[in-house]
Amino acid sequence: MISAIRPVAAPVTVRAPAKVNLQLAVGPARADGYHSLVTVFHAVSLFDDVTVTTADKTTISVTGEDAAAVPADRSNLAWQAASALAKATGQRGASVRIEIRKRIPVAAGLAGGSADAAATLVGCNELWQAGLSARDLAELAATLGSDVPFALVGGTAVGRGRGEQLTPALATGTYHWALAFGREGLSTAEVYATCDRLRAAKAATGDQAEVTEPELSHPLMAALRSGDPEQIGPLLTNDLQPAALSLQPALRRTLAAGREHGALGAIVSGSGPTCAFLAQDAARARDLAVALTGSGVCRAVARASGPAPGATVVRDWDRHRDRQPS
Ligand code: C5P
Repeated sequence: MISAIRPVAAPVTVRAPAKVNLQLAVGPARADGYHSLVTVFHAVSLFDDVTVTTADKTTISVTGEDAAAVPADRSNLAWQAASALAKATGQRGASVRIEIRKRIPVAAGLAGGSADAAATLVGCNELWQAGLSARDLAELAATLGSDVPFALVGGTAVGRGRGEQLTPALATGTYHWALAFGREGLSTAEVYATCDRLRAAKAATGDQAEVTEPELSHPLMAALRSGDPEQIGPLLTNDLQPAALSLQPALRRTLAAGREHGALGAIVSGSGPTCAFLAQDAARARDLAVALTGSGVCRAVARASGPAPGATVVRDWDRHRDRQPS
């Protein structure tokens, strides 16, 4: 008897970006434990690649930056993304091999796990020819984590709600960054909890008024429209920064070193501990990266530019292009 030969879908590789927050305004804790936010997300050219392949059972493997720190089981957001997509498209039993090539450090405030989840959603949608629209994927993404919808779209966008409600921001120009990675990660939940504690302590001593609903920085939005990094640098703000600094006081030295070496703006990225430094141009970002590396205030430094695209299927020619000398 001749058995039917099922076509095996080719593996799909998707590349998804890290993000920094140009503004992160944190409001009061909501009844569901999350905080209402207004944030300006900005995707940067530091990417994880996720390859999904049809398999008999779901597995996950991780290589690259911090690979040992990434769980290779159901607790990985990429695994949850594949399960959520299978459920949403009526293929409950569908299994997939997920291979993550990490360049985005873990627990760094750069939304690396969210990038992997977004890449897995896009990859499985293609692998299974599921045909979900961008809007469907965004809805699924929001169930996985607050930053996952942004990793799908990339660019520069305003996030509201807990970060998952996005509107594109009118931004012009390319921005050049040096990213200083910390020696130890920070838990996002712990940083938010510390932010609440610091605020409560200040309120008790009368130093801080009641926490109000966050508002978008209009000067920052105007500066983004102008495309001038010199205007943007002093307008970068992060309400989580005092909490990240109280958990890792050494980050003060990292921020100071970046400012001393000419950064236009110096800020903790998201919940940290990565510090993001805005430079005038690509050459100055390189100089800043060299100076920060030499100053010994961080584990490693990367250069990146933004805005970068959201989760995108990597075609063969893209892979070929990656091998070209720059
Ligand atoms: O959404 P995500 O799972 O990435 O969030 C991780 C943690 O960060 C949450 O469990 C919560 O403690 C905190 N968080 C928050 N408010 C937000 C986003 C995240 O309190 N808007």
